[in-house]
Amino acid sequence: MTARPARPEDEPWRAAGLDPRKLPRHVAIIMDGNGRWAERRNLPRSEGHRAGTEAVRRVIRASAPIGLSALTLYAFSTENWKRPSQEVESLWRLVPEVFERDLPEIREAGVRVRVVGDRGGLPEEVRTAVARAEAETAANTGMVVTFAINYGGRDEIVRAARRLAIEAKAGAIDPTAIDEAALAARLDTAGLPELDLLVRTGGEMRVSNFLLWELAYAEFVSVPVLWPDFTADDLYRALAEYQRRDRRFGGVAT
Ligand code: IPE
Ligand code: IPE
Ligand code: MG
Repeated sequence: MTARPARPEDEPWRAAGLDPRKLPRHVAIIMDGNGRWAERRNLPRSEGHRAGTEAVRRVIRASAPIGLSALTLYAFSTENWKRPSQEVESLWRLVPEVFERDLPEIREAGVRVRVVGDRGGLPEEVRTAVARAEAETAANTGMVVTFAINYGGRDEIVRAARRLAIEAKAGAIDPTAIDEAALAARLDTAGLPELDLLVRTGGEMRVSNFLLWELAYAEFVSVPVLWPDFTADDLYRALAEYQRRDRRFGGVAT
Protein backbone atom coordinates (compact mmCIF):
# COMPACT_ATOMS: atom_id res chain seq x y z
CA MET A 1 0.00 0.00 0.00
CA THR A 2 1.40 3.38 -0.91
CA ALA A 3 0.97 6.20 1.54
CA ARG A 4 -0.86 9.16 0.07
CA PRO A 5 1.05 12.43 0.26
CA ALA A 6 0.37 14.53 3.35
CA ARG A 7 -2.24 17.22 2.78
CA PRO A 8 -2.16 20.55 4.65
CA GLU A 9 -5.36 19.67 6.52
CA ASP A 10 -3.57 16.63 7.96
CA GLU A 11 -1.15 18.98 9.64
CA PRO A 12 -3.05 22.09 10.65
CA TRP A 13 0.11 23.73 11.98
CA ARG A 14 1.50 23.66 8.43
CA ALA A 15 -1.71 25.25 7.17
CA ALA A 16 -1.17 27.97 9.79
CA GLY A 17 2.10 28.80 8.06
CA LEU A 18 4.35 27.85 10.96
CA ASP A 19 8.04 27.46 10.31
CA PRO A 20 9.04 24.15 11.93
CA ARG A 21 12.61 25.47 12.39
CA LYS A 22 11.51 28.43 14.50
CA LEU A 23 9.19 26.83 16.98
CA PRO A 24 9.54 27.67 20.65
CA ARG A 25 10.74 24.83 22.84
CA HIS A 26 8.80 25.86 25.92
CA VAL A 27 5.38 27.51 25.90
CA ALA A 28 3.43 28.52 29.01
CA ILE A 29 -0.23 29.46 29.11
CA ILE A 30 -2.25 31.50 31.62
CA MET A 31 -5.58 29.77 31.08
CA ASP A 32 -7.86 32.69 31.90
CA GLY A 33 -11.51 33.46 31.18
CA ASN A 34 -13.37 30.41 32.48
CA GLY A 35 -15.53 32.51 34.80
CA ARG A 36 -16.52 35.01 32.09
CA TRP A 37 -17.28 32.14 29.71
CA ALA A 38 -19.71 30.68 32.24
CA GLU A 39 -21.25 34.01 33.25
CA ARG A 40 -22.05 34.81 29.62
CA ARG A 41 -24.05 31.59 29.51
CA ASN A 42 -25.71 32.13 32.88
CA LEU A 43 -23.90 29.08 34.20
CA PRO A 44 -22.05 28.73 37.50
CA ARG A 45 -18.33 29.56 37.27
CA SER A 46 -17.55 25.90 38.01
CA GLU A 47 -19.04 25.03 34.60
CA GLY A 48 -16.53 27.38 33.01
CA HIS A 49 -13.72 25.52 34.73
CA ARG A 50 -15.14 22.21 33.53
CA ALA A 51 -15.34 23.51 29.95
CA GLY A 52 -11.76 24.73 30.40
CA THR A 53 -10.58 21.16 30.89
CA GLU A 54 -11.67 20.40 27.30
CA ALA A 55 -9.39 23.19 26.11
CA VAL A 56 -6.53 21.67 28.12
CA ARG A 57 -7.03 18.42 26.26
CA ARG A 58 -7.20 20.20 22.88
CA VAL A 59 -4.01 22.14 23.52
CA ILE A 60 -2.04 19.07 24.66
CA ARG A 61 -3.24 17.23 21.54
CA ALA A 62 -2.23 20.17 19.35
CA SER A 63 1.21 20.68 20.93
CA ALA A 64 2.64 17.18 21.08
CA PRO A 65 2.74 16.51 17.29
CA ILE A 66 4.50 19.77 16.39
CA GLY A 67 7.46 18.89 18.60
CA LEU A 68 7.19 21.34 21.51
CA SER A 69 9.43 20.13 24.34
CA ALA A 70 7.49 21.67 27.17
CA LEU A 71 4.03 23.10 27.80
CA THR A 72 3.33 24.71 31.18
CA LEU A 73 -0.26 25.44 32.18
CA TYR A 74 -1.37 27.77 34.99
CA ALA A 75 -4.24 25.98 36.69
CA PHE A 76 -4.43 27.51 40.20
CA SER A 77 -2.48 30.40 41.66
CA THR A 78 -1.49 31.01 45.28
CA GLU A 79 -3.89 33.99 45.05
CA ASN A 80 -6.85 31.92 43.84
CA TRP A 81 -7.53 30.83 47.46
CA LYS A 82 -9.22 34.25 47.79
CA ARG A 83 -12.16 32.98 45.71
CA PRO A 84 -15.40 31.73 47.29
CA SER A 85 -14.82 28.32 48.88
CA GLN A 86 -17.45 26.76 46.61
CA GLU A 87 -15.47 27.73 43.52
CA VAL A 88 -12.16 26.61 45.04
CA GLU A 89 -13.68 23.24 45.98
CA SER A 90 -15.10 22.79 42.48
CA LEU A 91 -11.59 23.29 41.10
CA TRP A 92 -10.12 20.72 43.49
CA ARG A 93 -12.80 18.22 42.49
CA LEU A 94 -11.88 18.71 38.84
CA VAL A 95 -8.17 17.83 39.18
CA PRO A 96 -8.55 14.10 40.03
CA GLU A 97 -11.45 13.89 37.55
CA VAL A 98 -9.38 15.27 34.69
CA PHE A 99 -6.44 12.98 35.40
CA GLU A 100 -8.81 10.02 35.61
CA ARG A 101 -10.28 10.99 32.23
CA ASP A 102 -7.15 12.00 30.33
CA LEU A 103 -4.25 10.06 31.84
CA PRO A 104 -4.57 7.03 29.51
CA GLU A 105 -4.37 9.26 26.42
CA ILE A 106 -1.54 11.33 27.89
CA ARG A 107 0.40 8.17 28.72
CA GLU A 108 -0.17 6.74 25.23
CA ALA A 109 1.04 9.97 23.63
CA GLY A 110 4.39 9.66 25.43
CA VAL A 111 3.75 12.88 27.37
CA ARG A 112 5.35 13.32 30.80
CA VAL A 113 3.30 15.05 33.46
CA ARG A 114 4.89 17.29 36.02
CA VAL A 115 3.45 19.59 38.67
CA VAL A 116 4.91 22.84 39.99
CA GLY A 117 3.69 24.84 42.99
CA ASP A 118 3.39 24.34 46.71
CA ARG A 119 2.14 20.78 47.09
CA GLY A 120 2.03 21.01 50.86
CA GLY A 121 -1.06 23.21 50.58
CA LEU A 122 -3.02 20.87 48.29
CA PRO A 123 -5.97 18.76 49.43
CA GLU A 124 -5.05 15.10 49.92
CA GLU A 125 -7.02 13.79 46.88
CA VAL A 126 -5.36 16.34 44.62
CA ARG A 127 -1.89 15.50 45.92
CA THR A 128 -2.57 11.80 45.34
CA ALA A 129 -3.89 12.40 41.81
CA VAL A 130 -0.92 14.50 40.74
CA ALA A 131 1.60 12.10 42.30
CA ARG A 132 -0.03 9.26 40.39
CA ALA A 133 0.00 11.17 37.10
CA GLU A 134 3.69 11.97 37.56
CA ALA A 135 4.59 8.40 38.52
CA GLU A 136 2.64 6.82 35.65
CA THR A 137 4.27 9.05 33.04
CA ALA A 138 7.75 9.33 34.57
CA ALA A 139 9.35 7.07 31.96
CA ASN A 140 7.82 8.93 28.99
CA THR A 141 10.25 10.82 26.80
CA GLY A 142 7.93 13.07 24.79
CA MET A 143 6.65 16.55 25.60
CA VAL A 144 6.62 17.56 29.27
CA VAL A 145 3.27 19.00 30.35
CA THR A 146 3.63 20.89 33.61
CA PHE A 147 0.56 21.89 35.60
CA ALA A 148 1.08 24.88 37.89
CA ILE A 149 -1.19 24.14 40.85
CA ASN A 150 -1.14 26.24 44.02
CA TYR A 151 1.65 28.02 42.20
CA GLY A 152 2.99 31.54 42.74
CA GLY A 153 6.12 32.89 41.10
CA ARG A 154 7.21 34.68 44.27
CA ASP A 155 6.46 31.63 46.38
CA GLU A 156 8.58 29.48 44.02
CA ILE A 157 11.54 31.86 44.37
CA VAL A 158 11.14 32.02 48.16
CA ARG A 159 11.11 28.23 48.43
CA ALA A 160 14.24 28.02 46.23
CA ALA A 161 15.99 30.65 48.38
CA ARG A 162 15.04 28.72 51.50
CA ARG A 163 16.55 25.55 50.06
CA LEU A 164 19.79 27.40 49.34
CA ALA A 165 19.88 28.81 52.88
CA ILE A 166 19.35 25.38 54.41
CA GLU A 167 22.13 23.90 52.27
CA ALA A 168 24.46 26.79 53.09
CA LYS A 169 23.79 26.42 56.81
CA ALA A 170 24.55 22.70 56.57
CA GLY A 171 27.83 23.53 54.85
CA ALA A 172 26.79 21.81 51.62
CA ILE A 173 27.10 24.98 49.53
CA ASP A 174 29.36 28.04 49.76
CA PRO A 175 27.10 31.14 49.98
CA THR A 176 29.57 33.22 47.95
CA ALA A 177 29.31 30.68 45.13
CA ILE A 178 25.52 31.08 44.74
CA ASP A 179 24.78 32.21 41.19
CA GLU A 180 21.79 32.26 38.83
CA ALA A 181 22.28 28.60 37.92
CA ALA A 182 22.29 27.61 41.61
CA LEU A 183 18.96 29.34 42.20
CA ALA A 184 17.43 28.09 38.94
CA ALA A 185 18.39 24.53 39.89
CA ARG A 186 16.27 24.82 43.03
CA LEU A 187 13.16 26.21 41.35
CA ASP A 188 10.20 23.89 40.72
CA THR A 189 10.87 24.30 36.99
CA ALA A 190 14.49 23.05 37.22
CA GLY A 191 15.42 20.99 34.18
CA LEU A 192 12.77 22.44 31.85
CA PRO A 193 14.01 24.33 28.78
CA GLU A 194 14.13 28.14 28.98
CA LEU A 195 10.66 29.64 28.60
CA ASP A 196 10.22 31.06 25.08
CA LEU A 197 6.59 32.12 24.94
CA LEU A 198 3.88 33.07 27.41
CA VAL A 199 0.31 33.08 26.10
CA ARG A 200 -2.52 34.57 28.15
CA THR A 201 -6.13 33.99 27.15
CA GLY A 202 -9.00 36.22 28.29
CA GLY A 203 -7.30 39.41 27.11
CA GLU A 204 -5.62 40.70 30.28
CA MET A 205 -2.11 42.16 29.98
CA ARG A 206 -0.60 40.96 33.25
CA VAL A 207 1.38 37.98 34.47
CA SER A 208 -0.53 37.41 37.74
CA ASN A 209 2.46 35.97 39.64
CA PHE A 210 3.20 33.29 37.01
CA LEU A 211 6.79 32.11 36.33
CA LEU A 212 8.40 35.38 37.43
CA TRP A 213 11.97 34.10 37.21
CA GLU A 214 11.42 32.05 34.06
CA LEU A 215 9.77 34.91 32.14
CA ALA A 216 13.01 36.93 31.95
CA TYR A 217 13.24 36.73 28.15
CA ALA A 218 10.01 35.07 27.13
CA GLU A 219 7.83 36.66 24.44
CA PHE A 220 4.31 37.59 25.61
CA VAL A 221 1.16 37.09 23.54
CA SER A 222 -2.24 38.03 24.98
CA VAL A 223 -5.31 36.80 23.12
CA PRO A 224 -8.91 37.90 23.77
CA VAL A 225 -10.33 34.37 23.41
CA LEU A 226 -11.72 32.98 26.67
CA TRP A 227 -9.92 29.79 27.71
CA PRO A 228 -12.85 27.34 27.19
CA ASP A 229 -13.08 28.60 23.57
CA PHE A 230 -9.34 28.27 22.87
CA THR A 231 -8.62 25.94 19.95
CA ALA A 232 -5.60 24.38 18.23
CA ASP A 233 -5.85 27.15 15.62
CA ASP A 234 -5.66 29.81 18.34
CA LEU A 235 -2.49 28.13 19.62
CA TYR A 236 -0.99 28.03 16.13
CA ARG A 237 -1.85 31.73 15.63
CA ALA A 238 -0.01 32.57 18.87
CA LEU A 239 2.97 30.54 17.66
CA ALA A 240 2.90 32.39 14.33
CA GLU A 241 2.93 35.70 16.23
CA TYR A 242 5.94 34.42 18.22
CA GLN A 243 7.70 33.59 14.96
CA ARG A 244 7.28 37.19 13.78
CA ARG A 245 9.10 38.55 16.85
CA ASP A 246 12.74 39.58 16.76
CA ARG A 247 14.30 38.12 19.91
CA ARG A 248 17.37 40.16 20.72
CA PHE A 249 18.12 39.13 24.33
CA GLY A 250 19.64 42.54 24.93
CA GLY A 251 21.85 42.37 21.87
CA VAL A 252 21.32 44.01 18.49
CA ALA A 253 19.12 42.83 15.62
CA THR A 254 20.82 40.33 13.36
C1 IPE B 1 -9.04 31.08 34.99
O1 IPE B 1 -10.32 31.54 34.73
C2 IPE B 1 -9.06 29.79 35.78
C3 IPE B 1 -8.55 29.92 37.15
C4 IPE B 1 -8.08 30.99 37.70
C5 IPE B 1 -8.62 28.72 37.94
P1 IPE B 1 -11.03 32.57 35.70
O2 IPE B 1 -11.86 31.80 36.68
O3 IPE B 1 -10.06 33.52 36.30
O4 IPE B 1 -11.97 33.32 34.68
P2 IPE B 1 -12.31 34.88 34.67
O5 IPE B 1 -11.02 35.61 34.54
O6 IPE B 1 -13.02 35.18 35.95
O7 IPE B 1 -13.20 35.03 33.48
C1 IPE C 1 -4.40 33.72 36.74
O1 IPE C 1 -5.69 34.12 36.50
C2 IPE C 1 -4.39 32.37 37.40
C3 IPE C 1 -4.78 31.25 36.55
C4 IPE C 1 -5.13 31.29 35.29
C5 IPE C 1 -4.73 29.97 37.20
P1 IPE C 1 -6.52 35.01 37.53
O2 IPE C 1 -7.85 35.21 36.93
O3 IPE C 1 -6.47 34.43 38.88
O4 IPE C 1 -5.67 36.37 37.54
P2 IPE C 1 -6.11 37.86 37.83
O5 IPE C 1 -6.93 37.85 39.09
O6 IPE C 1 -6.88 38.32 36.66
O7 IPE C 1 -4.80 38.59 37.97
MG1 MG D 1 -9.32 35.32 35.66
